[in-house]
Amino acid sequence: MSLLEIKDLHVEAGGREILKGVTLSLEEGETCVLFGPNGSGKSTLLSTIMGYGQTSVTSGKIIFKGTDITNMSVDRRAKLGIGMMMQRPPNVIGVKLGELVKVTAANGKGTTGHEKEFKMQDFMERDVNVGFSGGEIKRSELLQLSAQSPDFVMLDEPESGVDIENIGLIGKKVHELIRGTDDGRKNVSAFVITHTGQIMDYIGADKAFVLIHGRIAREGDPAAILDDIKQNGYGVDDE
Ligand SMILES: Nc1ncnc2c1ncn2[C@@H]1O[C@H](COP(=O)(O)OP(=O)(O)OP(=O)(O)O)[C@@H](O)[C@H]1O
Ligand SMILES: [Mg+2]
Repeated sequence: MSLLEIKDLHVEAGGREILKGVTLSLEEGETCVLFGPNGSGKSTLLSTIMGYGQTSVTSGKIIFKGTDITNMSVDRRAKLGIGMMMQRPPNVIGVKLGELVKVTAANGKGTTGHEKEFKMQDFMERDVNVGFSGGEIKRSELLQLSAQSPDFVMLDEPESGVDIENIGLIGKKVHELIRGTDDGRKNVSAFVITHTGQIMDYIGADKAFVLIHGRIAREGDPAAILDDIKQNGYGVDDE
């Protein structure tokens, strides 16, 4: 049984069909990357798996650990072990980052007290994401994920907008989230959106998918697919 199975998933947002029959599976311990042009539906796919956002599933199924989660609430999905770093997480006015990390750790399997490792020690008394820079948001999201310690982690462009020095920190922390601090202790599965493939230098990848116009156009070896995209582009016209 696969850890995650998506079967002919159709998703609508703003009165338009965004995902037009996505079928894919991800195995236990596997790291998969998701490529695709802007607007192809990558973030929509991840948010739909998490159950977060203003999208509606019109048909198809999402099965996680053998359970149909298609219509499950986001917190039940989180309890089942799914975690996500969003591309653009919302500001949470009135909730301090420190409080959120505590609650997340209490509901999850991770621990608190790691803010210094993420260079977030000066942010714990601030409202979540309010006025955070792009790179600070990424580190904050990762700190929250480490407190949750999910069995399946989805990352939406973790390296995007991160400076050259901090990319190493993000890469290391994502690696720890998936494999643990001493290599091999953890065997978490990951689904990672990336445009540049930079994150693959830190976590490796077993499989890649390419999403184009709401459909999986290609599946295969991550390095080969990335090379091909770099050389030839996605080879698609606007719809
Ligand atoms: N709530 C919504 N209402 C209307 N359109 C939406 C909504 N959510 C997503 N879309 C549209 O769906 C399409 C896919 O969006 P999505 O954010 O999934 O793209 P993406 O592949 O993640 O792109 P990028 O690489 O730029 O992040 C876009 O054209 C977007 O405008
Ligand atoms: Mg996106």
